Amino acid sequence: MSQPSGNHARDPHGRPSAATVAASLLRRSTLRPSLALVLGSGFDKVLGRCTSVLEISYSSLPGFPRPGVAGHAGKLVLGYVARIPVAILSGRGHFYEGHSMEAVTFPVRVLAELGVKTVCLTCAAGGINSRYKAGDYMVFSDHINFMGTNPLRGWNLPGTPRFVDLSQTYERGLRDLVEKAAKKAKARLHTGQYLAVCGPSYETPAEIRAFGRLGADAVGMSTVPEAIVARQCGLRVAALACITNLAAGRNKQAITHAEVLSTGEAGAQVLSEMMEEFVKLYAQAK
Ligand code: HPA
Repeated sequence: MSQPSGNHARDPHGRPSAATVAASLLRRSTLRPSLALVLGSGFDKVLGRCTSVLEISYSSLPGFPRPGVAGHAGKLVLGYVARIPVAILSGRGHFYEGHSMEAVTFPVRVLAELGVKTVCLTCAAGGINSRYKAGDYMVFSDHINFMGTNPLRGWNLPGTPRFVDLSQTYERGLRDLVEKAAKKAKARLHTGQYLAVCGPSYETPAEIRAFGRLGADAVGMSTVPEAIVARQCGLRVAALACITNLAAGRNKQAITHAEVLSTGEAGAQVLSEMMEEFVKLYAQAK
């Protein structure tokens, strides 16, 4: 039997598909970015580097989760960074907020339907590796999915692979660009493995010790579902974490969301510069 195209107007629950949402966006703007940035907790300052052409709140976009966490504004922006067309997802819905994996990853499917080919995901993370300090950055070399589920579970969009290879989730060439961008922005950048948990509680020191033994360098509550779905959609993926705090047990102080946000915001200038450089290098390398 022939496979129907992935261009279905609605999903099996009758909700508009990513292709439908993307089609409505394509009617509203002539911009056709091949690169998208996804901005995590407190990173919306990167928008200051963007001349926007179209801005739409997630609340006006069918299927998009409404981020409920302070520091996550929740809007899709089409515009230019350093005169290069980009799509930006500012804010994300998290699994711990109660959103389904489908909802958390739906915006990435829309990016793919918009014609985006490469996505750079950003997030906050706790540093497990003893060399990592708050305010450092880590570009993902790989991940460990400890969220207890997988975003590809359940109904599979016709035309997309059911079983997705993740042996090279984070592309080497893009990682090199992030490294160059970090040098230019004078950011302290590590390369390491990110372990994703469900949250929303932070980890116990025993969990952090265990995660460290498994090979994790940093821990967080996002990004991995989006990376998996991006790979299913055939997108090239880079991911960058701001180490906003030392992971549980590495410090005497308790971890607070306020600390996570304030470290992210303190580094926003550096992150913004890094993202702008990354966009320029990406356009040159294309
Ligand atoms: N653990 C999990 N997620 C996080 C952390 C952490 O320590 N910091 C920022 N996001």
